[in-house]
Amino acid sequence: MLETRNLTSGYGAITVLWDVSLTFRQGALTAIVGPNGAGKTTLLRALTGLLPYSGEILMDGKPLKGKGQSKGSAKTWDLAAQGLVMVPEGRLVFRDMSVEENLCLGAYPERCRADLAANLERMYAFFPRLKERRRQLAGSLSGGEAQMVAMGRGLMAKPRILLIDEPSLGLAPVIVNEVFDIIRRLKGEGTTIVLIEQNTRIALSVADDVHLMRSGKVILSEKAAGIDLDRLHDLYFAREGTTEGASR
Ligand SMILES: Nc1ncnc2c1ncn2[C@@H]1O[C@H](COP(=O)(O)OP(=O)(O)OP(=O)(O)O)[C@@H](O)[C@H]1O
Ligand SMILES: [Mg+2]
Repeated sequence: MLETRNLTSGYGAITVLWDVSLTFRQGALTAIVGPNGAGKTTLLRALTGLLPYSGEILMDGKPLKGKGQSKGSAKTWDLAAQGLVMVPEGRLVFRDMSVEENLCLGAYPERCRADLAANLERMYAFFPRLKERRRQLAGSLSGGEAQMVAMGRGLMAKPRILLIDEPSLGLAPVIVNEVFDIIRRLKGEGTTIVLIEQNTRIALSVADDVHLMRSGKVILSEKAAGIDLDRLHDLYFAREGTTEGASR
Protein backbone atom coordinates (compact mmCIF):
# COMPACT_ATOMS: atom_id res chain seq x y z
CA MET A 1 0.00 0.00 0.00
CA LEU A 2 1.10 3.53 -0.78
CA GLU A 3 0.04 6.54 1.20
CA THR A 4 0.75 10.27 1.33
CA ARG A 5 0.18 12.40 4.41
CA ASN A 6 0.06 16.16 4.07
CA LEU A 7 2.30 16.00 1.05
CA THR A 8 3.43 19.46 -0.01
CA SER A 9 5.78 19.82 -2.95
CA GLY A 10 6.68 21.95 -5.94
CA TYR A 11 9.51 23.53 -7.83
CA GLY A 12 11.87 25.74 -5.85
CA ALA A 13 9.89 28.61 -4.41
CA ILE A 14 6.74 27.53 -6.23
CA THR A 15 4.48 25.26 -4.20
CA VAL A 16 2.24 23.15 -6.42
CA LEU A 17 0.87 20.44 -4.12
CA TRP A 18 -0.79 21.49 -0.90
CA ASP A 19 -1.35 19.00 1.92
CA VAL A 20 -2.24 16.07 -0.28
CA SER A 21 -3.29 13.04 1.79
CA LEU A 22 -4.17 10.00 -0.28
CA THR A 23 -4.27 6.25 0.18
CA PHE A 24 -3.64 3.97 -2.77
CA ARG A 25 -5.07 0.60 -1.81
CA GLN A 26 -3.12 -2.54 -2.52
CA GLY A 27 -4.31 -4.35 -5.64
CA ALA A 28 -6.67 -1.52 -6.52
CA LEU A 29 -6.60 0.89 -9.42
CA THR A 30 -6.73 4.47 -8.24
CA ALA A 31 -7.43 7.10 -10.86
CA ILE A 32 -6.41 10.71 -10.38
CA VAL A 33 -8.24 13.05 -12.68
CA GLY A 34 -8.12 16.80 -13.01
CA PRO A 35 -7.54 19.64 -15.44
CA ASN A 36 -4.22 20.81 -16.90
CA GLY A 37 -1.89 22.20 -14.27
CA ALA A 38 -3.74 20.56 -11.36
CA GLY A 39 -0.49 19.02 -10.09
CA LYS A 40 -1.07 15.41 -11.15
CA THR A 41 2.37 14.91 -12.70
CA THR A 42 3.95 16.80 -9.82
CA LEU A 43 2.35 14.30 -7.43
CA LEU A 44 3.92 11.38 -9.31
CA ARG A 45 7.28 13.15 -9.36
CA ALA A 46 7.16 13.62 -5.60
CA LEU A 47 6.13 9.97 -5.13
CA THR A 48 9.06 8.74 -7.22
CA GLY A 49 11.75 10.79 -5.50
CA LEU A 50 12.14 13.37 -8.26
CA LEU A 51 11.05 16.33 -6.15
CA PRO A 52 11.68 17.35 -2.55
CA TYR A 53 8.60 17.42 -0.34
CA SER A 54 7.33 17.97 3.15
CA GLY A 55 4.83 15.63 4.75
CA GLU A 56 5.13 11.88 4.45
CA ILE A 57 5.06 9.20 1.80
CA LEU A 58 4.57 5.69 3.18
CA MET A 59 4.94 2.40 1.37
CA ASP A 60 3.63 -0.62 3.28
CA GLY A 61 3.26 1.65 6.31
CA LYS A 62 6.90 2.77 6.36
CA PRO A 63 8.33 6.09 5.18
CA LEU A 64 9.99 5.79 1.78
CA LYS A 65 13.72 5.37 2.19
CA GLY A 66 16.56 4.68 -0.17
CA LYS A 67 18.82 1.67 0.10
CA GLY A 68 21.13 2.02 3.07
CA GLN A 69 19.87 5.51 3.84
CA SER A 70 18.91 6.26 7.37
CA LYS A 71 17.36 9.58 6.43
CA GLY A 72 16.70 11.77 3.45
CA SER A 73 14.34 11.16 0.61
CA ALA A 74 14.67 8.00 -1.43
CA LYS A 75 16.22 8.04 -4.87
CA THR A 76 14.16 7.13 -7.89
CA TRP A 77 16.27 4.07 -8.72
CA ASP A 78 15.99 2.78 -5.15
CA LEU A 79 12.24 3.11 -5.36
CA ALA A 80 12.18 1.23 -8.68
CA ALA A 81 14.22 -1.49 -6.97
CA GLN A 82 11.53 -1.61 -4.28
CA GLY A 83 8.84 -1.98 -6.93
CA LEU A 84 7.55 1.60 -7.23
CA VAL A 85 7.74 2.40 -10.92
CA MET A 86 6.49 5.26 -13.08
CA VAL A 87 5.52 5.30 -16.74
CA PRO A 88 6.05 9.00 -17.44
CA GLU A 89 3.79 11.41 -19.23
CA GLY A 90 4.53 12.05 -22.91
CA ARG A 91 5.78 8.46 -23.44
CA LEU A 92 9.40 9.45 -22.88
CA VAL A 93 11.50 6.84 -24.62
CA PHE A 94 15.18 6.84 -25.49
CA ARG A 95 14.83 7.80 -29.13
CA ASP A 96 18.27 6.71 -30.30
CA MET A 97 17.95 3.26 -28.79
CA SER A 98 16.04 0.31 -30.18
CA VAL A 99 12.72 -0.88 -28.82
CA GLU A 100 14.44 -3.85 -27.20
CA GLU A 101 17.18 -1.71 -25.64
CA ASN A 102 14.51 0.58 -24.17
CA LEU A 103 12.70 -2.41 -22.69
CA CYS A 104 15.89 -3.90 -21.26
CA LEU A 105 16.70 -0.62 -19.51
CA GLY A 106 13.56 -1.12 -17.48
CA ALA A 107 15.09 -4.28 -16.02
CA TYR A 108 17.83 -2.23 -14.37
CA PRO A 109 16.89 -3.24 -10.78
CA GLU A 110 19.07 -6.17 -9.73
CA ARG A 111 16.13 -8.41 -8.88
CA CYS A 112 14.97 -8.19 -12.53
CA ARG A 113 18.18 -9.17 -14.25
CA ALA A 114 18.27 -12.96 -13.81
CA ASP A 115 15.10 -13.64 -15.78
CA LEU A 116 15.41 -10.74 -18.20
CA ALA A 117 14.93 -12.92 -21.29
CA ALA A 118 11.71 -14.47 -19.99
CA ASN A 119 10.44 -11.07 -18.90
CA LEU A 120 11.18 -9.67 -22.35
CA GLU A 121 9.15 -12.44 -23.95
CA ARG A 122 6.31 -11.60 -21.56
CA MET A 123 6.41 -8.01 -22.79
CA TYR A 124 6.30 -9.19 -26.39
CA ALA A 125 3.27 -11.30 -25.54
CA PHE A 126 1.63 -8.18 -24.07
CA PHE A 127 2.64 -6.04 -27.04
CA PRO A 128 3.11 -8.22 -30.15
CA ARG A 129 3.69 -5.13 -32.27
CA LEU A 130 6.82 -4.35 -30.28
CA LYS A 131 8.22 -7.77 -31.11
CA GLU A 132 7.94 -6.99 -34.81
CA ARG A 133 9.72 -3.71 -34.19
CA ARG A 134 12.23 -4.89 -31.61
CA ARG A 135 15.24 -3.59 -33.61
CA GLN A 136 13.62 -0.32 -34.71
CA LEU A 137 14.82 2.94 -33.14
CA ALA A 138 12.28 4.10 -30.58
CA GLY A 139 12.42 7.63 -32.04
CA SER A 140 10.79 6.39 -35.25
CA LEU A 141 7.78 4.74 -33.59
CA SER A 142 4.20 5.95 -33.81
CA GLY A 143 2.70 7.57 -30.71
CA GLY A 144 0.81 4.42 -29.77
CA GLU A 145 3.86 2.22 -30.20
CA ALA A 146 5.99 4.61 -28.14
CA GLN A 147 3.38 4.46 -25.35
CA MET A 148 3.62 0.67 -25.46
CA VAL A 149 7.43 0.89 -25.16
CA ALA A 150 7.10 3.27 -22.19
CA MET A 151 4.67 0.89 -20.50
CA GLY A 152 6.71 -2.19 -21.39
CA ARG A 153 9.85 -0.57 -20.00
CA GLY A 154 8.03 0.15 -16.72
CA LEU A 155 6.74 -3.42 -16.55
CA MET A 156 10.24 -4.82 -17.10
CA ALA A 157 11.01 -3.46 -13.61
CA LYS A 158 8.32 -5.85 -12.26
CA PRO A 159 6.41 -3.16 -10.40
CA ARG A 160 4.38 -3.83 -7.30
CA ILE A 161 3.00 -0.34 -7.66
CA LEU A 162 2.76 1.12 -11.14
CA LEU A 163 2.22 4.85 -11.65
CA ILE A 164 1.01 5.68 -15.17
CA ASP A 165 0.80 9.31 -16.29
CA GLU A 166 -1.77 10.11 -19.00
CA PRO A 167 -1.39 7.05 -21.20
CA SER A 168 -4.18 8.16 -23.55
CA LEU A 169 -2.68 11.55 -24.39
CA GLY A 170 -2.71 12.22 -28.11
CA LEU A 171 -3.62 8.68 -29.11
CA ALA A 172 -6.38 7.57 -31.47
CA PRO A 173 -9.37 5.96 -29.71
CA VAL A 174 -8.58 2.49 -31.01
CA ILE A 175 -5.03 2.70 -29.60
CA VAL A 176 -6.35 4.09 -26.31
CA ASN A 177 -8.56 1.01 -26.05
CA GLU A 178 -5.55 -1.25 -26.65
CA VAL A 179 -3.55 0.52 -23.94
CA PHE A 180 -6.44 0.27 -21.49
CA ASP A 181 -6.90 -3.42 -22.25
CA ILE A 182 -3.34 -3.88 -21.04
CA ILE A 183 -4.03 -1.78 -17.92
CA ARG A 184 -7.07 -3.98 -17.19
CA ARG A 185 -4.92 -7.07 -17.57
CA LEU A 186 -2.29 -5.72 -15.18
CA LYS A 187 -5.00 -4.91 -12.68
CA GLY A 188 -6.32 -8.46 -13.08
CA GLU A 189 -2.84 -9.74 -12.20
CA GLY A 190 -3.00 -7.85 -8.90
CA THR A 191 -0.67 -4.92 -9.66
CA THR A 192 -1.47 -1.84 -7.61
CA ILE A 193 -1.98 0.94 -10.15
CA VAL A 194 -2.14 4.71 -9.88
CA LEU A 195 -3.48 6.10 -13.13
CA ILE A 196 -3.39 9.77 -14.03
CA GLU A 197 -5.94 10.45 -16.73
CA GLN A 198 -7.80 13.42 -18.16
CA ASN A 199 -10.29 11.22 -19.97
CA THR A 200 -12.65 10.75 -17.03
CA ARG A 201 -14.92 8.27 -18.78
CA ILE A 202 -12.16 5.83 -19.56
CA ALA A 203 -10.57 6.38 -16.14
CA LEU A 204 -13.84 5.52 -14.41
CA SER A 205 -14.24 2.42 -16.56
CA VAL A 206 -11.14 0.83 -14.97
CA ALA A 207 -10.84 2.55 -11.60
CA ASP A 208 -11.77 1.34 -8.13
CA ASP A 209 -11.10 4.65 -6.42
CA VAL A 210 -11.15 8.14 -7.95
CA HIS A 211 -9.63 11.39 -6.75
CA LEU A 212 -10.17 14.73 -8.41
CA MET A 213 -7.35 17.25 -8.15
CA ARG A 214 -7.52 20.93 -8.87
CA SER A 215 -4.99 23.66 -8.09
CA GLY A 216 -2.74 21.25 -6.21
CA LYS A 217 -5.44 19.95 -3.89
CA VAL A 218 -7.62 16.89 -3.75
CA ILE A 219 -11.19 18.14 -3.93
CA LEU A 220 -13.11 14.89 -4.33
CA SER A 221 -12.37 11.30 -3.32
CA GLU A 222 -14.85 8.56 -4.07
CA LYS A 223 -15.29 4.95 -5.10
CA ALA A 224 -15.54 4.81 -8.89
CA ALA A 225 -18.69 2.70 -8.72
CA GLY A 226 -20.65 5.35 -6.85
CA ILE A 227 -19.45 8.42 -8.66
CA ASP A 228 -21.82 10.83 -10.37
CA LEU A 229 -20.12 11.84 -13.62
CA ASP A 230 -22.06 15.12 -13.92
CA ARG A 231 -21.01 16.20 -10.45
CA LEU A 232 -17.45 15.15 -11.15
CA HIS A 233 -17.44 17.24 -14.31
CA ASP A 234 -18.99 20.24 -12.51
CA LEU A 235 -16.14 20.16 -10.00
CA TYR A 236 -13.58 19.36 -12.70
CA PHE A 237 -14.49 22.38 -14.77
CA ALA A 238 -15.33 24.54 -11.72
CA ARG A 239 -18.75 25.30 -13.18
CA GLU A 240 -20.86 27.98 -11.62
CA GLY A 241 -22.96 26.95 -8.65
CA THR A 242 -20.42 24.44 -7.38
CA THR A 243 -18.04 24.89 -4.51
CA GLU A 244 -14.72 23.16 -4.06
CA GLY A 245 -15.08 20.08 -1.92
CA ALA A 246 -18.79 20.65 -1.56
CA SER A 247 -21.09 17.71 -1.09
CA ARG A 248 -24.64 17.70 -2.26
N1 LIG B 1 9.64 22.04 -13.84
C1 LIG B 1 8.75 22.94 -13.41
N2 LIG B 1 9.12 24.13 -12.91
C2 LIG B 1 8.19 25.03 -12.45
N3 LIG B 1 6.86 24.82 -12.47
C3 LIG B 1 6.44 23.64 -12.96
C4 LIG B 1 7.34 22.64 -13.46
N4 LIG B 1 6.61 21.58 -13.89
C5 LIG B 1 5.32 21.91 -13.66
N5 LIG B 1 5.22 23.14 -13.11
C6 LIG B 1 3.97 23.82 -12.72
O1 LIG B 1 3.31 23.05 -11.75
C7 LIG B 1 1.89 23.10 -11.95
C8 LIG B 1 1.34 21.69 -12.02
O2 LIG B 1 1.90 21.04 -13.15
P1 LIG B 1 1.69 19.51 -13.44
O3 LIG B 1 2.55 19.16 -14.59
O4 LIG B 1 1.88 18.73 -12.18
O5 LIG B 1 0.15 19.48 -13.83
P2 LIG B 1 -0.74 18.30 -14.40
O6 LIG B 1 -1.91 18.17 -13.52
O7 LIG B 1 0.11 17.10 -14.62
O8 LIG B 1 -1.21 18.91 -15.80
P3 LIG B 1 -1.40 18.21 -17.25
O9 LIG B 1 -2.76 17.58 -17.20
O10 LIG B 1 -1.35 19.36 -18.19
O11 LIG B 1 -0.29 17.23 -17.45
C9 LIG B 1 1.67 23.92 -13.21
O12 LIG B 1 1.28 25.21 -12.83
C10 LIG B 1 3.03 23.92 -13.88
O13 LIG B 1 3.23 25.11 -14.62
MG1 LIG C 1 0.69 16.02 -16.25
